[in-house]
Amino acid sequence: MQLHTLRLWRFRNYTHAHMDFAPRVNILLGANAQGKTNLLEAIYYLSALRPLRPVREQDLIQWGAPEMRLFARYEQDGLTDELQIRLPLQGKRVIVLNEQPITKQSALVGKLAVVCFTAQDLAIVRGEPADRRRFLDAEISLLSHRYLYSLAHYKRAVEQRNHLLRGYLEGTATLDSLPEWNAQLVKYGARLFHARKQFLERLNVLIAATHRALTGNAEMLTLRYLPGLPLREPLPDKEEDWHDALLSALHQLANEELRRGTTLVGPHRDDFQITIDGYDARLYASQGQQRTAALSLRLAEVTLVESIRQEPPLVLLDDVFSDLDPARRRQLVAFLQPRTQTFITCTDLSAFDEATLSDAALFEVHQGMVNRRA
Ligand SMILES: Nc1ncnc2c1ncn2[C@@H]1O[C@H](COP(=O)(O)OP(=O)(O)OP(=O)(O)O)[C@@H](O)[C@H]1O
Ligand SMILES: [Mg+2]
Repeated sequence: MQLHTLRLWRFRNYTHAHMDFAPRVNILLGANAQGKTNLLEAIYYLSALRPLRPVREQDLIQWGAPEMRLFARYEQDGLTDELQIRLPLQGKRVIVLNEQPITKQSALVGKLAVVCFTAQDLAIVRGEPADRRRFLDAEISLLSHRYLYSLAHYKRAVEQRNHLLRGYLEGTATLDSLPEWNAQLVKYGARLFHARKQFLERLNVLIAATHRALTGNAEMLTLRYLPGLPLREPLPDKEEDWHDALLSALHQLANEELRRGTTLVGPHRDDFQITIDGYDARLYASQGQQRTAALSLRLAEVTLVESIRQEPPLVLLDDVFSDLDPARRRQLVAFLQPRTQTFITCTDLSAFDEATLSDAALFEVHQGMVNRRA
């Protein structure tokens, strides 16, 4: 996967910008608040069709402008694609791939593959179950349109079901439509359980290797799925078994749910545990270990995407590089360098060694303008 050209119009603090990238390391250098993360966000948006940060899509449009546009020329599996997105302040987003308008988002899933490392990744290791579920949802959605679709339906089913249960508790609703929402909950819930378990299993195999590479064989990192269901190990392997397990848990908890007025089981209660040498990383790991665990998780994701697509995704590193110690930095670059195109933001070049710099393209970012340094 290789991004050759990126153009932005009225995107965040860019009025107009054009960049031709190098095949390996691209360094985006600039002081705070100049537009480095915004550039990464443009690349991310072309891939995920949602902002990198938790804002509304329209916030991507430059303040005061009626619309923004992005253009990318990239190479995938030896073929060149041209992707264009236009997002107006009012009205619908328009996507054009190789001069053909795209109406279904699914037509784009798996086109431009991107993995983004940010300082907020630490929340996956240190944060709440909701942070880890957000990670799972974002990553699996990029790999599977079926997942994205099921997730939307599942969320709606939980909301409607909770609304109904609360209404019943308060005496304002009857349970007439409960069986219908149960069926939706179980159908889409089983898909999410199954997909999350598979994803974590695959990631678990890969993360052992990435973590050893980052720590010089010193630590063993493992991931363990904790589904939002009262279940004993081993966890089900098939989607229909998840279906049965969720259905039977709903039956068992029916009275409790009526009493509490909320849905007590399902993937909206999922979590996964990250352990280092057998200890829960959230509780017992040092700050540096937690940071390295977050990095390993993203690196494993890079290898997973690579194994699925037979070529590595684009890798975006936002403000993570300068926080690593020199040894980890070298290990990270060594891991990515040979085949992956990377985009690294930084405020100064002190974190880079000579060898990395001599192979990298350097872009200076200043007040929403980019210049490639010769
Ligand atoms: N929709 C928008 N229109 C115009 N300007 C915007 C918009 N959204 C954000 N900005 C501006 O873009 C500027 C640059 O943001 P960005 O996050 O890219 O900075 P950065 O170079 O990554 O800085 P840092 O080193 O602090 O992370 C911000 O100061 C913000 O005010
Ligand atoms: Mg930034």
